[in-house]
Amino acid sequence: MTEHVTHVTHPLVQHKLTLMRQTDTSTASFRQLLREISQLLAYEVTRGLPMTTRRIDTPLEPMDAPVIDGKKLALVSILRAGNGLLDGVLELIPSARVGFVGLYRDEETLKPVQYYFKVPTELEDRLVIAVDPMLATGNSSVAAIDLLKKAGAKNIRFLCLLAAPEGIARMKEAHPDVPIVTAAIDSHLNENGYIVPGLGDAGDRMFGTK
Ligand code: URA
Repeated sequence: MTEHVTHVTHPLVQHKLTLMRQTDTSTASFRQLLREISQLLAYEVTRGLPMTTRRIDTPLEPMDAPVIDGKKLALVSILRAGNGLLDGVLELIPSARVGFVGLYRDEETLKPVQYYFKVPTELEDRLVIAVDPMLATGNSSVAAIDLLKKAGAKNIRFLCLLAAPEGIARMKEAHPDVPIVTAAIDSHLNENGYIVPGLGDAGDRMFGTK
């Protein structure tokens, strides 16, 4: 990937995202749309993976057919909302290895603090795709990628659904080597750190906790 940010403008992605943004979309519909949109975004975030060929037999003759090269890629969900994106991506890449990063915000320092970290082995040899639907301030994304790099990851991509300009700028400053794939770049963050116009709290909407 050469661009730092890839904005996926495909009509199916944009239409589904509009349905997800609407206040009156039910939890069940939100979840289903997220599953569908994450598969379309998975298609985009895996663009340009290194390829090799494998000798196979077709019914007519042998051929050297294209297959993805290298170790199984690693998907890393930034808890908890990342899990909503993870499910759909895993349907498209079922052999991917999966990791989880849990961070909470310390109310005094306002800094992200790690409470869970479990990732696949040999991260340095894998493409690592970190997933979190909302790139808002960028604080948790930057912290999660710091942890992944500390664990050895060298080739990381970041997949989200919505990004705020503030979050993109923060990621570009901290991790210019990590390309971002997003379905939308919204206007700004409000005083509570929510993306505007956005879709509200992604975790609450996908898990029905509000
Ligand atoms: N997290 C969310 O779930 N929504 C936002 O708008 C920002 C961060």
